[in-house]
Formats: sequence, structure tokens, C-alpha cells
Amino acid sequence: PVIRLADYAPPPWRVTHVDLVFDLDAEATQVEATLALQPDPARPAAPLRLDGEDLELLDIALDGQPLPPARYRVDATGLTVLGVDAPCLLRTRVRIRPQTNTRLEGLYVSGASLMTQCEAEGFRRITWFVDRPDVSAVYTVTLRADRTKYPVLLSNGNPAGAGDLDDGHHWARFVDPHPKPCYLFALVAGTLGHLSAPFRTMDGRDVTVRVWAEPADVPRCRHALESTLRAMRWDEKRFGRAYDLDVFDIVAAQDFTMGAMENKGLNIFNARFILADIDTATDADFEAIESVIGHEYFHNWSGNRVTLRDWFQLSLKEGLTVFRDQEFTADLHSRAMKRIDDVRLLKSRQFAEDAGPLAHPVRPASYSEINNFYTATVYEKGAEIIRMLHTLLGELTFRRALDLYFARHDGGAATVEDLLDAMREASGRDLAQFARWYDQAGTPQIAVTEAFDPATGDYTLHLAQHTPATPDGSEKQPLHLPFAFALYDADDRRIATPPDTDAAQRPGLVELTAAEHTLRWRGLAQRPLPAFLQGLSAPARLRYDYAASDLGRLLRIESDALVRWECAQQLVADAVLRGEARPDARPALIAALGALLADTTLDPAFVAECVSVADVWSLADRCDRIDLDLLWREREALLDDIAAAHADLLAARYDALSPAALGGLAPACIAARQLRNVALSLLTRRDPSARRAEAQFAQANTLTDRLAALAALLRVDAPGAAAALAAFRTRHADDPLTTDKWLTLVVTRPQPDAVDAVRDILAGPLWQPRNPNRVRTVLGHFARNNPVAFHRRDGAGYALLFDWLPELDRINPQVAARQLTALEPWRRLDADRAARIEAHLRAFAALPLSRDSADVAGRLLG
Ligand code: ARG
Ligand code: ZN
Repeated sequence: PVIRLADYAPPPWRVTHVDLVFDLDAEATQVEATLALQPDPARPAAPLRLDGEDLELLDIALDGQPLPPARYRVDATGLTVLGVDAPCLLRTRVRIRPQTNTRLEGLYVSGASLMTQCEAEGFRRITWFVDRPDVSAVYTVTLRADRTKYPVLLSNGNPAGAGDLDDGHHWARFVDPHPKPCYLFALVAGTLGHLSAPFRTMDGRDVTVRVWAEPADVPRCRHALESTLRAMRWDEKRFGRAYDLDVFDIVAAQDFTMGAMENKGLNIFNARFILADIDTATDADFEAIESVIGHEYFHNWSGNRVTLRDWFQLSLKEGLTVFRDQEFTADLHSRAMKRIDDVRLLKSRQFAEDAGPLAHPVRPASYSEINNFYTATVYEKGAEIIRMLHTLLGELTFRRALDLYFARHDGGAATVEDLLDAMREASGRDLAQFARWYDQAGTPQIAVTEAFDPATGDYTLHLAQHTPATPDGSEKQPLHLPFAFALYDADDRRIATPPDTDAAQRPGLVELTAAEHTLRWRGLAQRPLPAFLQGLSAPARLRYDYAASDLGRLLRIESDALVRWECAQQLVADAVLRGEARPDARPALIAALGALLADTTLDPAFVAECVSVADVWSLADRCDRIDLDLLWREREALLDDIAAAHADLLAARYDALSPAALGGLAPACIAARQLRNVALSLLTRRDPSARRAEAQFAQANTLTDRLAALAALLRVDAPGAAAALAAFRTRHADDPLTTDKWLTLVVTRPQPDAVDAVRDILAGPLWQPRNPNRVRTVLGHFARNNPVAFHRRDGAGYALLFDWLPELDRINPQVAARQLTALEPWRRLDADRAARIEAHLRAFAALPLSRDSADVAGRLLG
């Protein structure tokens, strides 16, 4: 069934108080739920309908009286109680089976622990409930379990007693004073160890912060714990938000469908976003851990204290919280580098999504399976919308608006309009047109054309915005967006004169609202060099035809790091995609990269970002038709040219940075490793014996360096590659996360015969289709990041994916559906490949599938 935003109606029944008692056991758990229910007095009596799936009814009573079978009905999706129209107390007891819950929604088993994942609609797999986010209740939870198997018992809220029971069992109780929707419910039971630290909030509350993991992994929780304390302090300072319970627990799980979950006071994480030490986590992992820890913590206000009216509003919490986590990382590390990272992700994932068959608005108008909408559009484009509001309002007004939003909706369930209203009231701005960003799919293009009259010195920029059609067929309206720009004169100085224009403006920025605007300057001495979208002021595609020489110049003189990086990207794209039309792009790029590499005053991380050539999918994003073979060849040729042109410079930087990179996790060491490893990868192309890569692999004292060396060896099929691969495997054999790193290298080795390696893995003991990380590693990385093997002409790559998808769909629909999204660009591939993929998709779609996979397959087929 299709659910529509336009059909929203408040719940006819609410749950105000919940008392849950769990008798926990992996094979069969009993859940006794007592719900205080209230009908909406404003509406005619509606039947009492509760959601529930895969629940085995043991007992049911209403207001203390057993309910006779004639008074209720149980079906595949819920429970209906007949003949009630007044507040009542419903008690049910059900049996659920964690051990066989391979969907990992509701209560499930990971390792030796029991744990939950409820967002979006998993709570209904635990007990019957009004499972929707606009129903908030106060919870008391009692957990009972075998003391030896499950010594640690955790749930949301503050601890409220614990003790022993007969026959080796024990109990623990939790009271969460903050009303919450059921998607924020969580429990964990297991044999876990922890690290802990005290934290005093700015309003004087003493909080115990704990990070939990399997005992052997506890030493690797230090970075997560420290990141948590940093996030708590930062949210107080930057947004005035303090924590609101006596304990804050975070638990690492090896089996987890997504990244992490912000359950109230009890965040549960994919272990890969918790566990880290210098030997088992890369520099990027350390940063991602801090960022995800921040993200989930920040949800405590943007998501939990103020939650969602309905799932269409998902970006209200996710976009806002991604913006907050981006700012957290930017404030603590390099703002410029963080922006480059985020824009790269936005362009490679979200722009591609907006341009393909899965395009949808940040607030979709309808869905058949909400789990398929945890997307780059809802998260990353949603964050860009918040960032534009921040740009339009300025930090102080934006902060006041958020304060107003939190104060007004604390304890409530909000909508996008509620947030925009707060922004409007705090700023006095009209945001009616701006609101279109939420409901209109597609990435706007801004075409810039210019005219310069040497006689008068008149210079005009003509800006035209246009959003291409998306599969929903909706008509596209002009968007309200902040468009940053700069003009440079012949001396590379920024021209400060504001333009004449009908658009609202402030220095360096105009607000586009109409389909077209003109900016006009008078009396300029020469044609200036323009630059646009500093910091990517709006999530738009720029269309302006730069000459290669201008891109090279801008890369030198522009002050905004993102624009400089974009210039390098544009030169790369011109060199790879328009080599004939733009013969000067390649030499301009090579000269620009040489200048960057030679300049030791620059942040090595920035140089590394510019020298790293975009992957084929980012290049393909700029093409209507994707000639994968040509793209791959041209990209390889460009890399060879860069390596050849700068062999000496690369070697000099590599050698000079080596000592600097040895010192652990200080920012300068991380930046040094980043540039050094980009250099290594290029240098190794020209050195069949892979001398430096071999040496680096042998001496590496960080996982970052070890992996980079191994990747370089594999890429060129170096003589030592096989031995290095085996050595890495032996060194990290016991750790699933590091095994995933190893597997990633194996399945992304850019050779057609990587298909054989994937086939072997799928037939061997490392293939664990019930573990989402393993599926993402083996099939996800293969399908997304190994174009040469996955898209092999003979279809052997596709066959491997589709061999497993039906089974994966039976195991975990969310994970299966996610793997399908790797096929997003299929229609733009050449006819042979598209035909093969289409045949697979049609055969797959004809099977009895989960709602998740049926929805994605259906939309991919269009
Ligand atoms: N709210 C979580 C986060 O972004 C994601 C949970 C997604 N879960 C799901 N089943 N779709 O932090
Ligand atoms: Zn989130």
C-alpha cells in the first residue's frame, strides 16, 4: 500500500504510559506490555487498532479483565480490540523469537547479546503498539534475564532498581521521564564491558557516560568515549543544548543494519562506528566515529526532545542533525577540508540520486516502504537546506530560530513547516518560496553566461536556474537560493563593487528567486574572472564554461578552498571527458597540480584532495550516456600522465612527509599520511617492483598506511602483492571489522578477474549473509567500487549479485534493497550492459519479494 503525506490524520488512539516487562531469552522472549490508552476526544469513536508483526499472543486483558476472543482480532499486521471508546489499560503478553529475527528489526541477537532496532517501524515486532512517531509515551521497562548469559541489562532512561531473582536470573528497571515515540525504544542484554567517564552538564547535571562493547573490544572504545564527551560539550557551546538524563550509554554491535541509532539515552551503533585503535582503524574511521557519535548524540534534541509528526518529515531530524554533525567536525578540525569531504559525498551520492530513477524530494509525497527513504537526499540534501537557512539568516539569527524551535516543540512532534515558521519568526524573512526545497526533487542547474563591453567596461552575468525533470513528472518551479560569487580583476584582487541587480544581495552573495537574474557592473577596466558558489552556497550544479587557463588561475587565486578544489575537479572532468574539445585541460591540470605539489606552505590534506582524481562514477555523473570502458581508460591514462609528469615532485613529497606521518593521530600526521598515500599510489604506477609500497607495507605503524600500501600493490599486481595480502589477513584474522577492510581490497581490486575472487569469497567461510557489514563489504563494495569487474561485459559480475539477492531479501530486506541501489545508473550505460541488468532486474522483480526490494526494483525499472 502507498502511504501519502496528504492523507495525514492525527492518531485516533494515543498511548500515554507504557510498562514493559521482558523475560529475555535468545530463543523465546516474553514481553508483557501494559498500555494506558486514550481515544482522541475530538473524534468519533474509532476502533482500537494496534500495530504488531510476528507476535505470538499469550495473554490479553483490558482494565484487569481477561479479554474473550470475541472482543479482539489478530491479523498479520496488528490487533483490533472491539467495543472500547474510553481511556483504558490494555495488557498483552506475547512471545517473540530473537534468534530467528534475521531482519534485525525489533529484538534480535548479535553475538552473545540481545538488542533492538526500532526505527522506523521495528517496535511493532516487539509488542502491539500505536507505532507512529506522533504518539509519545512515558516508559517504565523491567528486564529479566539469566544472570550468567546476560549480566548487563540496559534500557532507555534512568536506572530505577535492580536485583536477583530465583534460578540464576536477575532484573533491572529503567524509567525514562521524557515522553518518546516507540521508535526510540531500546534494550540491550549481554556480556559486555565498558569504559566510562563522568560529565557535568552546563546546567549542573552529573551524567555517567559509558561505551559498551564485547569484553575483548573494550580497549578500542576510548576514541568513542572521548568523542562523546566532545560532542556533549560542543552542543552546549554552539547550540545551548544540554543532556537530560543521569546516564548516557552507547553500545557497539557487530550486526547492525545501518550506521547507528539515537535511542533515547541508549544509542546503539554499528561497531565500525565505535571500535578504533591505530592498528585496526584508519584515519578516516577515526573521523567518521567522532562524527557519527556526534550525530546520534545531537539527535537527543533534534529528533528525540523534538520528534517527527510522521515519517515524511524524516529530514526534519536527519537533515538538521547532519548539519549539526558537519558543523561539529568543522569546528573541531579543518572547516575547509570538512566542506570538501561533504560536497564530494553530496555530489557523488545525492546529485546522482536526484538524476536517476530513485529521485525523490527531501520530503517525499508518498512511500510504500519508509526504510527505503534513509537516503542521501533526505540526509545530505536535507543538511544542505539547513545550511542554506544558516547562510540566509546568519549564525546568530539561525541560533535564535533553533532555540525558538526547540522551546516551542519540546516534547512534541513537529513538521518541516514548524521549523520554517521558527526560522521565519526569528528572522522576519519570507520563506514561502524557500519551502519548495523540501517538496521538489531534482538538482537545480544554474547556467551562467556573461557579456563584457570593452568600450564601456560594462560586465553582466546572466543567471538562469533550471531543474531537470524527475521520474515523478512534477513541474519544476524556481527555487530561492543563496548564490555566492566573486569577481577578480587583472591583479587577482577581488572586486568589491556590488552589482546592480533585482536580486536581494549582500557582499559576495545574491539571493536567486526568479528563473533568471542579471548582475551588472559598470566601468570595469577588463573582463573580470568570476568564481561561483563559494562553500557550495546552494546544492546546485553550476554551468559556466571556463577556459582551462581560467580554471588554473582560479585554482591559484581563489580564497575559498572548495572552489579551488572544484576547479581541479573541472579540469579533471574536462581532461577525461572532453579531451578533444579541450586539449588544454590536461596540460593546465598537470601544471596546476605541479604548483600545488611544490607548495609546501599548503595544507597537505588539501593538496591530496586536489591530486586525487575523481572516481568513474563521479565522472559519469557529468555524462548523459556512460561509456564505462572509455571513462575507465581515459581516467587511467590521466593518472599515468600525472604520475609521469610529477614523478620527481611526488617522490620528493613522499620522502619528505614520511617522518612527519609517523606521529600518531595529530592533525599534521593525518594530513601528511593523506598526501603521502596519494603520492604513493601515483608513484607505484611507474614502478613495477613497487619498492616504496613494499617498504611502506612492511614498516607501516598505522592501518591507514598499511592499507594504502596494500592497495597500491594490488592495483599494479606487484610481485609482492599476494604475500602482503596474506600477511594482512593473518595479522587481523580475528577481527571482523579489519577482515572487512581486507575483503574490501580484494573485491575492489581493479582487474576483471576480481570476479573470481568475489565468487570464492561467496563460497567460503568469510561470507556471512546475515551480517550486514559483510554483505555491504563483499557485494556493496564490489558493485559500487569495482566498475572493471562488476560491470564486466560478460555479465559475470551482475550474476554474482543477483545470485544472492533473493536469499538476502529473505534474510534482511533492508540490506537487500540497499544493494540494489548500486544499479541506479543502469539506464545510462551502453545497450549491452543495460540489457543484461534489465533482464536481471525483471527476473528479480518477478519473484515474491519484500516490500523493500519490490519498491526499489520497481522504481529502478521505472
Ligand atoms: N536514525 C538513524 C540515524 O540516522 C538511522 C536509523 C535508520 N534505520 C532504519 N531502519 N532505516 O542516525
Ligand atoms: Zn540521524
